[in-house]
Amino acid sequence: MRLVKEESGQDSLWDSEFIRLHDVAGPRYTSYPTALQFHEEFTDQDYKDAVGRSNASRMPLSLYVHLPFCASLCYYCACNKVITQSDEKKRRYLDALIKEIRLKSKDFDAARPVYQMHWGGGTPTYYSDAELTELWFEIGRHFHLVEPERGEYSIEIDPRTIDGNKLGLLKGLGFNRISLGIQDFDQRVQEAINRVQSYEQIRDLLQAARNYQYRSVNFDLIYGLPYQTVASVRETITKVIDLSPDRISLFNYAHLPQRFKSQSLLPEEALPPAEEKLQILCDASNQLMNAGYVYIGMDHFAKPTDELALAQAEGSLHRNFQGYTTFKDADLVGLGVSSISLINNIYCQNTKSITEYQGLVEENNSPLNAGVVLSTDDEIRRAVIMSLLCQNWLIPAQIESQFGIRFEHYFSSEIKSLNEFVNAGLLSLQNGVYNVTPKGRLVVRKICMLFDVYLPQHVKEGRRFSRVL
Ligand SMILES: C[S@@+](CC[C@H](N)C(=O)[O-])C[C@H]1O[C@@H](n2cnc3c(N)ncnc32)[C@H](O)[C@@H]1O
Ligand code: SF4
Repeated sequence: MRLVKEESGQDSLWDSEFIRLHDVAGPRYTSYPTALQFHEEFTDQDYKDAVGRSNASRMPLSLYVHLPFCASLCYYCACNKVITQSDEKKRRYLDALIKEIRLKSKDFDAARPVYQMHWGGGTPTYYSDAELTELWFEIGRHFHLVEPERGEYSIEIDPRTIDGNKLGLLKGLGFNRISLGIQDFDQRVQEAINRVQSYEQIRDLLQAARNYQYRSVNFDLIYGLPYQTVASVRETITKVIDLSPDRISLFNYAHLPQRFKSQSLLPEEALPPAEEKLQILCDASNQLMNAGYVYIGMDHFAKPTDELALAQAEGSLHRNFQGYTTFKDADLVGLGVSSISLINNIYCQNTKSITEYQGLVEENNSPLNAGVVLSTDDEIRRAVIMSLLCQNWLIPAQIESQFGIRFEHYFSSEIKSLNEFVNAGLLSLQNGVYNVTPKGRLVVRKICMLFDVYLPQHVKEGRRFSRVL
């Protein structure tokens, strides 16, 4: 069978009318089933059984390390973080984390290589050089980190917490990818969100990162913040294009002040109205694509030479809790408060409370709080959803040979809706392969939702999900 994959479609730019028509509120599918299916009846035995199967598989490992502290509060922030000035608090958490690393590493076959590690937060770089070094070496003592030339070691950086020297230290430890929180270069926007950082600061950091030969630099940007207009964001994007990072995340500002109290400190009347927000998104995306960036999917752009874009082009892109990744066949071990693991056929999550996390680990107990064991149906649907999100295609024959099912029987009701999406221009169908059209990529979650067997119940229960807009 000849596989048909559409060209990147960079010349076919998004239009607001199409997005307005097809935008829906829905999960972002960093996992399937989503975290809403994680439950507290998940047991330590479920975890141990999965680790046993995982060790037998000899698959490589990927590590996620959560460092939750920040020096000051960005009003828009929806991350799992704690604002503190206390070195003692940070130290106590680090001690607990190191203990969890020691305890958890005993479960895994020590020979299994770790090809990928990500430190996220909060702000990992809020820790001192000595503490960051200590943490890296503790991980290295308990897990088999492959040398940086063969692995992907990334860290989230708040530019206000770092200078060229610290960037050098991180490279020396082994990090080869960094992600910088930029959000917006406009002074008025920065003041409103309580996060002021200059363009020059970022320019110098980027120069230092290049001197240290980091393999890739990502910028986080947000659209939908107070005082943003089409024109102001265009200026920010122009500066971004000038600086030329390898990857860009353009996040939709999720405004949920009931859930994230600090968001009520933002001037609500200055938030761009829905129509303008949509224009900002289209304009900024088109600007990036015209400058040569490829849209990877779900808020992410990359240079065509970047590994993410190359992996997508060859059909080997994968997606996990940190977003897109080129490492497909690895079990993910989460370390730290609220971290999520994907081990064999389970997802499980540590408690989200720092106090509880520290209390449990200090007493040599597992900080696991919830999880889910995937059924075969979950695995089939996950494969379909990840293929749509990562490769922008759905190849029924591939799913059939992977799982031994007849696609048209198994998904007989979904196929009708797939054909409606073909008629609506979200998908094209050629030689038995569904390709997400360039236009359809921005609203691809609408197609994924079709395969989410749990979604109707969540909608009935009144759960709220984010939208593209
Ligand atoms: C953990 S932070 C990145 C590291 C570091 N703490 C920093 O701020 O630079 C992760 C990213 O999530 C994004 N983010 C946080 N809150 C958000 C919200 N309410 N809506 C959309 N994106 C958000 C921001 O772009 C932020 O850079
Ligand atoms: S955006 Fe980053 S620095 Fe700001 S509060 Fe959130 S996690 Fe902390």
